[in-house]
Amino acid sequence: MLLAGRKIVLGVTGSIAAYKAAHICRLLRKEGAEVKVVMTASAVSFITPLTLSTLSKHPVMVDLSNDDATWNNHVELGLWADLFLIAPASANTIAKCANGLCDNLLNAVYLSSRCKVMIAPAMDHDMFLHPSTQINLNRLKSFGNILIGPAVGELASGLNGEGRMLEPEIILEHIVTFFASKGTLKGKNVLVSAGPTHEPIDPVRFISNNSTGKMGFAIADELVKQGASVTLVAGPNNLTIPANIKYIGITTANEMYNICIEEFAKSDIAIMSAAVADFTPEISADHKIKKSSGLNTILLKPTVDILELMGKLKKNHQFLVGFALETQDALNYGKEKMLRKNLDLIVVNTLADAGAGFGYDTNKVTLIDKKENVNSFELKSKTEVAIDIVNKIISLYNA
Ligand code: CTP
Repeated sequence: MLLAGRKIVLGVTGSIAAYKAAHICRLLRKEGAEVKVVMTASAVSFITPLTLSTLSKHPVMVDLSNDDATWNNHVELGLWADLFLIAPASANTIAKCANGLCDNLLNAVYLSSRCKVMIAPAMDHDMFLHPSTQINLNRLKSFGNILIGPAVGELASGLNGEGRMLEPEIILEHIVTFFASKGTLKGKNVLVSAGPTHEPIDPVRFISNNSTGKMGFAIADELVKQGASVTLVAGPNNLTIPANIKYIGITTANEMYNICIEEFAKSDIAIMSAAVADFTPEISADHKIKKSSGLNTILLKPTVDILELMGKLKKNHQFLVGFALETQDALNYGKEKMLRKNLDLIVVNTLADAGAGFGYDTNKVTLIDKKENVNSFELKSKTEVAIDIVNKIISLYNA
């Protein structure tokens, strides 16, 4: 999900393209964004608030005050949002925004929002080309608003030309790019390891663990949103590969070791969330071991601790993050691992916490940095935990 955790206010104004706001809302929600919709009174003639409140899962706001004399707090909405998208933006709303008019809720949110405003104009070709509209659009640009479109195409008037609102899928792409380019990790190479490893006993059997890779994948996803160039090295999993990353699938601990050490040399940050097997069979049989063989012992040898080796290879500019999954005395074991492996940050979780660890969609983590500052978080979705982890990395890395 490319927009998980992002808060977007969608402003809908009176244009025939208003019906497409439903699709925009759906796409944003599908990518994990939280969406609150504000409409102008004339937008309501084109699409019902009920449609948009159902899709956004929030009440739709039209007026500055409600029938029960409560007030729609435009200042709060403006502060809540990470992005204010006005789509479609009619010539009238564009003119009001450009001139500071404030006779409806949408314009009040526009004037009071501190986040970026993205505007997708939609109007007839001649209205778009009119010098007053062009002056207004240039004013909005000079305020730092992002103008997207309009596109050239068939218009409701029957004319053909510039004025058509961009298609919802294209608007979504602009939003995803906006959040990525805003990213504080732009230009940074980040290596993430995820998932289990499989250590073969013979061609049909292996030793492994219950890791699903969800935590590492969520971290990779969040890093992309922060603008990083991400390499994800993952063991066997059933997850969808996040968009815009370099993905390397491996099977064994030894394969993970070879790839990670090679990739680490090119990385600014490495986050090793994989549950790498600590032991592997001394011998992996070429053919299936038959029941009749009488086998009752499998000899194991230790694998290389990739993270520990990285801690030794780590250069000054590199930032190294490890994980510790414990069943008892988690904080002490976590601290000890952080120091022993020369990490900058360790993410500790314990199977003692309900809903935390392998397989769940949630996790409960404690972050310990190398100055031994301890930060404990509530049980959250793995997407939200990934945001916490990446935010902590950004603040420590930039310091
Ligand atoms: N790790 C690794 N290579 C290994 C084993 C572990 O890179 N061969 C990394 C994991 O990706 C994780 C961290 O080391 O970031 C901690 O793994 P964990 O299994 O919790 O700890 P161990 O160091 O194996 O210690 P112990 O078995 O004593 O808990």
